[in-house]
Amino acid sequence: MKTRIGIDSLAVAVPRRYLDITDLARARGVDPAKYTQGLGAREMAVADPGEDTVSLAATAARRAIDAAGLDKSELGLIVVGTETGVDHSKPVASFVHGLLDLPRAMRVYDTQHACYGGTAGLMTAVEWIASGAADGRSALVICSDIARYGIDTAGEPTQGAGAIAMIVAQNPALLELDIGISGTSSTHVHDFWRPLGHREAQVDGHYSVQCYLDAVADAYAGWKTAATERDVSAALARICYHVPFCKMAKKAHLHLGFDEASFETQVAPTLGLCARIGNVYTGSLYLGLAGLLDAQATDLARRRIGLFSYGSGCTSEFFSGTVANAAAERIAAARIADVLADRERIGVEEYERIMAMTAPADEPPQPGRFRFTGVEAHRRQYLRA
Ligand code: CAA
Repeated sequence: MKTRIGIDSLAVAVPRRYLDITDLARARGVDPAKYTQGLGAREMAVADPGEDTVSLAATAARRAIDAAGLDKSELGLIVVGTETGVDHSKPVASFVHGLLDLPRAMRVYDTQHACYGGTAGLMTAVEWIASGAADGRSALVICSDIARYGIDTAGEPTQGAGAIAMIVAQNPALLELDIGISGTSSTHVHDFWRPLGHREAQVDGHYSVQCYLDAVADAYAGWKTAATERDVSAALARICYHVPFCKMAKKAHLHLGFDEASFETQVAPTLGLCARIGNVYTGSLYLGLAGLLDAQATDLARRRIGLFSYGSGCTSEFFSGTVANAAAERIAAARIADVLADRERIGVEEYERIMAMTAPADEPPQPGRFRFTGVEAHRRQYLRA
């Protein structure tokens, strides 16, 4: 019998503060419609230094494990996809492994290729299980990033931060992936990168949009060929794209030859969470998936959806999966509406003060969260609540 493998549980962690995007537009002397309609943004998550890539990852991971009701001893692999790690050697996954008291007998590492890193982790986990090497165990895959371009840059309204954690397992309750049916497209380009030692990304904005469009066309064509060869229908109920800003998903969909009406049905329902959090780099595709399932899992049960992951530089992959019958119940356990409701709106002055901070303020973590508290003897310190 065919082994069913995919995403069994998914949970989200975001910073506790956000900026309304119209406040940012006014402060920059820009017509708010440019940000809301031109880019499709509504709100932007603002991480303070205590809410770093590790603390967001650990918070999301704990929620994903709880949502699945998983015993930690069932995990054999943890992979963190990130492009905003905290150390040149020690992976974010190692910190998370320690903070969550995960089993010793595990593979623990990070994967990196800009925003594709999380998908690299997901594919590794799925193939690890499919190969039999997992021996019945599950994987924890986390996407965690802080997207920063800097004050008054063109990329500023497309910042954001957050983590999405997924349990990857056999007989998944959320999404069964079509193993081996995917299209990939990679080229060596300088569209977006972050040299060592820089907090903010370098980006050739308009060129990056073009690189993304070239990649999505190529990867989608590859996926369609693979689907046809295996007699899998290329009809997709929804498509989740990597979302650096919401309008990019629309550009991608139209570029593939779909029309505006198709965008409203197939893509708009995937953008709800992304518009309220901003770019989460590795996590943006999975934020779209989380928002989609939270809104429409019941209607989508047993239907195939497409997913497009894009990592600047660049590598990309179009893949697909079928929504599981239990998806509505399982995504409800992630309490995504509560995660969003538990945030505080701040003004531009406060956002700029936080952006200028280089060390965390002395404050305890909020209930259920982890927090970076500073560096002692060159070792990063965390508190859990
Ligand atoms: N009312 C309504 N719409 C308006 C408007 C107004 N008053 N003024 C402008 N607009 C529209 C423009 O027409 C444009 O829409 P279209 O693209 O559909 O034509 C949109 O608002 C944006 O305007 P500009 O192109 O003039 O904006 P910009 O040059 O200031 O910046 C950007 C846009 C280049 C995307 C910039 O935000 C940026 O550099 N972002 C970061 C890079 C990025 O996200 N790249 C995406 C691909 S790379 C990737 O996906 C990896 C990743 O995560 C980074």
